[in-house]
Amino acid sequence: MKLLVTGAGGMLGRAVVDAAARLGHDVVAATRAELDVTDAGATRRALLAARPRAVVNCAAYTDVDGAEGDRRAAAAVNAEGAGHVAAAAAAVGALIVHVSTDYVFDGSKREPWLESDPVAPLGVYGETKLAGERAVAEANPAHAIVRTAWLFGAGAKNFVDTMLALGTQRDEISVVTDQIGCPTWTGHLASALVDLAEHPQETGIHHIAGAGQCSWNELALEIFERAGIDCRVLPATSEQFPRPARRPAYSVLGSERRDPLVLPAWQDGLAQYLATRVTA
Ligand SMILES: NC(=O)c1ccc[n+]([C@@H]2O[C@H](COP(=O)([O-])OP(=O)(O)OC[C@H]3O[C@@H](n4cnc5c(N)ncnc54)[C@H](OP(=O)(O)O)[C@@H]3O)[C@@H](O)[C@H]2O)c1
Repeated sequence: MKLLVTGAGGMLGRAVVDAAARLGHDVVAATRAELDVTDAGATRRALLAARPRAVVNCAAYTDVDGAEGDRRAAAAVNAEGAGHVAAAAAAVGALIVHVSTDYVFDGSKREPWLESDPVAPLGVYGETKLAGERAVAEANPAHAIVRTAWLFGAGAKNFVDTMLALGTQRDEISVVTDQIGCPTWTGHLASALVDLAEHPQETGIHHIAGAGQCSWNELALEIFERAGIDCRVLPATSEQFPRPARRPAYSVLGSERRDPLVLPAWQDGLAQYLATRVTA
């Protein structure tokens, strides 16, 4: 099947391109330089030229703190841009698989968030991503909106790489215990996104993230343990590390769908990612 990936140069985008190619699909990998989703006309022309059966929209403004000071730039990509991709996909009869985030929730629950739970983003990034979900749903009935979380993978700065670097430079490091989520390896998520692209009947919202849950502190511990790095991980609170954007305290994703796509445990994703780093 012909599949077009936007944001193909990003961390998730490149994993989706790899997964789709490995599964034998005809992949059009559109990086930002090749397709700027904020340009409605260019987006439409690109899809008319390629005529894919499905589009996986991995293009996004992902600087959570930066968005607080630049709503316009974040919205242009995450809200209006997502709408442009969905409308262009609809114009060529293609399904859109759109990627969204756990940050559409305020983190106030203490059990996994389900697809129908009330959304209430804490920051501009989450607000623009939520606006994107709505724009996609409005522009194209053939949509699968995938909320995911805490991504790590090759090709971009991520928490795992940061910890691996810091852990070799320091004897101890303080990491927050009061944010709980689902670390997700892009390799695992990418396969699920391609699966959805192959099953156009699976419309609506999907929560898909690494199985299980942990705090950033527990994730750091697991990284050092698996990588054999001798660095103490001290507990810290978010208050000790003030940042421009508030993060949800608990953004674990669960699913109420009848046949949810369940990813392997986040520890498996971490193991796979560390293995690919060794061989890279
Ligand atoms: N990272 C996470 O922890 C996380 C968690 C939950 C959900 N998500 C969602 O997962 C998706 C993928 O994120 P990611 O982690 O792969 O982020 P990423 O590495 O920042 O990738 C985003 C890609 O979008 C591109 N892009 C930005 N503006 C664009 C535009 N106007 N037109 C076309 N492409 C544009 C970026 O290009 P440049 O690099 O050139 O700017 C980049 O290649 C996003 O929807 C994000 O919201 C991420």
